[in-house]
Amino acid sequence: MVIRVRKGVRIGILASLVACVFTGCDFEKQTDQTESVRIGVTVYNQYDTFVSSLMEEFDRYASQKEEEDGIEIIIETYNAADSQSNQNEQVEKMINDGCDVICVNLVDRTEPATIIDMAEKSDTPVIFFNRELVEGDLGRWDRLYYVGAKTFESGIMQGEIAADLFKNDEEADKNKDGVWQYIVLEGEAGHQDAIIRTEYAVSTIVENGVKVEKLGYAIANWDRAQAQTKMSHIIDQCGDSIELVIANNDDMALGAIDALKTLEIPQEEWPVIVGIDGTDVGLEAVINGEMAATVYNDKEGQAKGMLDLACQLCISKDTGSLTLEEGKYIRLPYAKVEPGAADSFLHHESSDNK
Ligand code: GAL
Repeated sequence: MVIRVRKGVRIGILASLVACVFTGCDFEKQTDQTESVRIGVTVYNQYDTFVSSLMEEFDRYASQKEEEDGIEIIIETYNAADSQSNQNEQVEKMINDGCDVICVNLVDRTEPATIIDMAEKSDTPVIFFNRELVEGDLGRWDRLYYVGAKTFESGIMQGEIAADLFKNDEEADKNKDGVWQYIVLEGEAGHQDAIIRTEYAVSTIVENGVKVEKLGYAIANWDRAQAQTKMSHIIDQCGDSIELVIANNDDMALGAIDALKTLEIPQEEWPVIVGIDGTDVGLEAVINGEMAATVYNDKEGQAKGMLDLACQLCISKDTGSLTLEEGKYIRLPYAKVEPGAADSFLHHESSDNK
């Protein structure tokens, strides 16, 4: 199912055409490709809060880029609705529709083979984003790229924030035993962000001198409603002994808050709750004091990195002046969002992706 086709607003003369003359490339081909750029996008699930806000940012930056660079950018966006076979069909359709480049938010990060084969056969470059391929798959063809974030940082930052909270807030250790009793709300099993965030958040808290005890964990697939249900069960089992909730993303942190509210637990008895993403709803929860802190997942930087790379790949076979790690990766840094800073992140400007 195509969820929307965003049509560009104007066609202009491209600076890259001029560059092309000087570099002696195939002028005729470049003229066709650069006046109008067609980008196909497929997301694993259009209802994922972070991914949908990343796509809004992608569209917003496309309008800006059209103005600045004088190109028309047509974006076809599909929702794979959690099905890898849907996504494979969508990629096939986008290739048949003549998309110059395809951006894929893989449903199953271990199953990119069909997409890679189709792309290579039709010589259509692919930018995978947000859900990282397992090592080695990106090397299967030289026109495959990945745009995402520096995954380790998010766990480390979340752990550092939590450790500081424990040290600076006497109320964090509710039973005063000097040990922080915690639970983890995890994203999808097998997702790089879930595995790495959990591991690094906990190890960083410990490395910062805080003793911890794990009371439980639950997989809630990045989802607020699932997290609410799982949190209610954990509260049933652990009662008021939970002192810290480490959530792999803001939506699950908000689900934990929903559970506490539904159970009518007074806020002064809540555990400390930390998230990751800095979605608008997450930032608002930090501002109103329900969530202790979050870590900003730079959707603006990732959207810009992806669009700049997509446009570049439409006009040329190489990545031009863009900086890519190992010639294939664009990874944006995270940032800590503690209460005083949350407001400024609500209207975060894109970090510059050189
Ligand atoms: C993560 C993000 C989650 C979820 C997930 C989907 O980077 O923090 O909220 O969107 O990607 O792949």
